[in-house]
Amino acid sequence: MITGASGFLGDSLCRLACVKHSVLAIYHRHKPLVPDVRAVQADLSKLNNLEALFKTLEPEAVIHAAAVADVAFCQRFPEQSRIINSELPGKLARICRDLNIPFVFTSTDLVFDGLCPPYSERHTRQPLGIYARQKVMAEDAVMQNHPQALICRMPLMIGVAPHDSAYHFCHHMLEAISQKTQLNLFTDEYRTPVDTHSAAGGILNLMDKTGGVLHLGGNTRISRHGIGLMMAESMGIKPDMIRPVRIDDMKLSTPRARDVSLDSQKAFQMGYKPMDLRQAVQRVVKQFNRKQKL
Ligand SMILES: NC(=O)c1ccc[n+]([C@@H]2O[C@H](COP(=O)([O-])OP(=O)(O)OC[C@H]3O[C@@H](n4cnc5c(N)ncnc54)[C@H](OP(=O)(O)O)[C@@H]3O)[C@@H](O)[C@H]2O)c1
Repeated sequence: MITGASGFLGDSLCRLACVKHSVLAIYHRHKPLVPDVRAVQADLSKLNNLEALFKTLEPEAVIHAAAVADVAFCQRFPEQSRIINSELPGKLARICRDLNIPFVFTSTDLVFDGLCPPYSERHTRQPLGIYARQKVMAEDAVMQNHPQALICRMPLMIGVAPHDSAYHFCHHMLEAISQKTQLNLFTDEYRTPVDTHSAAGGILNLMDKTGGVLHLGGNTRISRHGIGLMMAESMGIKPDMIRPVRIDDMKLSTPRARDVSLDSQKAFQMGYKPMDLRQAVQRVVKQFNRKQKL
């Protein structure tokens, strides 16, 4: 069972998983676009219906990628994201433990405050905003309810979103660069991004090899501004529309962690091999161009 199957990461998870497994793709408002899965519509915020859902579908393992992943939205509307982001993961973990099946939870690099990178699994979490705090609460509930569960801390991900409805920084950047509209990008906010395809591959390959917390960052530490320049280069467009800005120069409603680069050595040693970032950006640009032509 893959929750969030219509999402950015969930789409890649479904595409890869259905090669070897029969996939139950849980979505809420947008039907997944992957053909070879059994798509099931469910509102997972209705926590009372979960046991019945599991009884009907009888999953053999669960990857939980559903979330309200828009950081600014969570900051503005904490109550509207609380159940999905904080309460649901622990509840799902408990059901999976009772059924004696594996459970994978997708968390975030933003559980750290960005002051002492790179962050390994052993670092103390220090969340800055509401979304990050919700994820920390969820991590704790997952571990408490299903000690064998795997918590994958995902880095910033690049890819082409299957649906245009949710805000995705990557789509926003690609669109602005292709249309040559001004784009402010931070030169002092660093991450270790990875493409959704590599991230999904990492989760699927490692989920039966380990439990506890695992970082699935990429190989390259880069600023948002750096990612933008790489995208423009891949598109063959002069990056005149990209304006370098610094975090302190902007009035921001959401606190920003400056450098949540992940140390993902543990996953690398277990065989996690994310695609080189420049190659990944080229691939994403190709997918974006193809989608624009449709
Ligand atoms: N994107 C990133 O760069 C990033 C970075 C670090 C961590 N993460 C984490 O990675 C995971 C995947 O993120 P993403 O970017 O793929 O998210 P996304 O594209 O925003 O997708 C969110 C998914 O959650 C589903 N969902 C939301 N509310 C639901 C509800 N009430 N019932 C059932 N499903 C619901 C959505 O379904 P519908 O669309 O059908 O409504 C969608 O499939 C999340 O745990 C996120 O916190 C993401």
